[in-house]
Amino acid sequence: MLDTTSVSPRALLARRKPGFSLEQAFYTSQEIFDLDLEAIFFRTWIYVGVEPDVPDEGDVMVVDIGRASVLILRDDDGEIRAFHNVCRHRGARIVHDEKSSVGKLVCKYHAWTYDLDGKLLRAEHMGADFDTSCHGLKPVHLKSVEGLLFICLADEAPADIDDLAEKMGPYLKPHAIRDTKVAHQVDLIELGNWKITMENNRECYHCAGNHPELTIPLFEYGFGFSPESMDETKAKEAHRYECMVDDLHGEWEGSGFPSKEIDHLDDRVTGFRTQRLPIDRAGESQTLDTKVASTKLLGELTEAKMGGLSFWTQPNSWHHFMSDHIVTFSVIPLSPDRTLLRTKWLVHKDAVEGVDYDLKRLTEVWIATNDQDGTLVGYQHSGVKSPAYEPGPYSPYTEGLVEKFVNWYCLRLADHLG
Ligand code: FES
Ligand SMILES: [Fe+2]
Repeated sequence: MLDTTSVSPRALLARRKPGFSLEQAFYTSQEIFDLDLEAIFFRTWIYVGVEPDVPDEGDVMVVDIGRASVLILRDDDGEIRAFHNVCRHRGARIVHDEKSSVGKLVCKYHAWTYDLDGKLLRAEHMGADFDTSCHGLKPVHLKSVEGLLFICLADEAPADIDDLAEKMGPYLKPHAIRDTKVAHQVDLIELGNWKITMENNRECYHCAGNHPELTIPLFEYGFGFSPESMDETKAKEAHRYECMVDDLHGEWEGSGFPSKEIDHLDDRVTGFRTQRLPIDRAGESQTLDTKVASTKLLGELTEAKMGGLSFWTQPNSWHHFMSDHIVTFSVIPLSPDRTLLRTKWLVHKDAVEGVDYDLKRLTEVWIATNDQDGTLVGYQHSGVKSPAYEPGPYSPYTEGLVEKFVNWYCLRLADHLG
């Protein structure tokens, strides 16, 4: 067994073996967890929610990342802004509920009152010389990528988010996130390190054996496969999938819906990947019968069989855009062995529950899948902390994107450590 308890993060990074899972300390040590927050979560773009989380003026959402708490709000002009949720008086947290609606932001402690653009409006008993203009809320970088909200807590945010937005715009636009509403949200606490949650998401090696619901609409082959280890039935299925991707990409791209893969998962600071994937059987949506869950299609879409546009970002999100609904996932580290997976289901803003969609049909595939993944993450974490653990090899066929995630992570950490 490799003893990682006394080795510095820099030395651990230097001896990392490409193509293998990380050494134990990366998943279990408090020191590396703290470093992950500093080097990754406080420096890169983090996906936190969607514009429809704050649909009206005065709507506020609180997102906590480690010791940081951030307010995402829609101001009186309809613009979405982000601020540190820290009062400029003596530092009290200002907003406490995850979602609320306010006229002004009033700190409960001594009632300092801020406008929705962050300006300090009122602070009693501070004297005539007190300058309110020096005590506004501290802004946080915010970027809306077609309605998906990313924040960056660094003083200087990585500029390559603009390139991501430009490349992703044509893919995401047809699904019109801004014209949706959050129909449901589930917060799941997984008993594992956040990197284990992310690794789990970046492969479908485990899908056939663990996700009976998800593998109804989704092909396990979308993440790669080894042709040699397949029996005749599986090989036929993989071939059918590859033909389907070719045909459907031609069809979709021909009618103006970008579908081809873009992969920048480990060659830039703001890593991402996208591809429109076919949906099996009826081909419409990630539901148990693979038909749309909401009869009100998104945006200007008129065709239900649009497949599932997948969008993955480093370090903490993935998303599936169908013709009728969108599912978004964000990962927030809580401690070395606890991770928040926040899932939101979006439908057309005018869709009526019980008329246009049934909440159970809409959510059942991913509620089941997340629970199964949560269990697997717990299994891995509990084994990784054992004295017997040592890094194991990733499949070159089915775990290429896991390797890209880990590679991206190591590059960011190395960059931070200098
Ligand atoms: S700490 Fe907020 S008003 Fe005093
Ligand atoms: Fe899974």
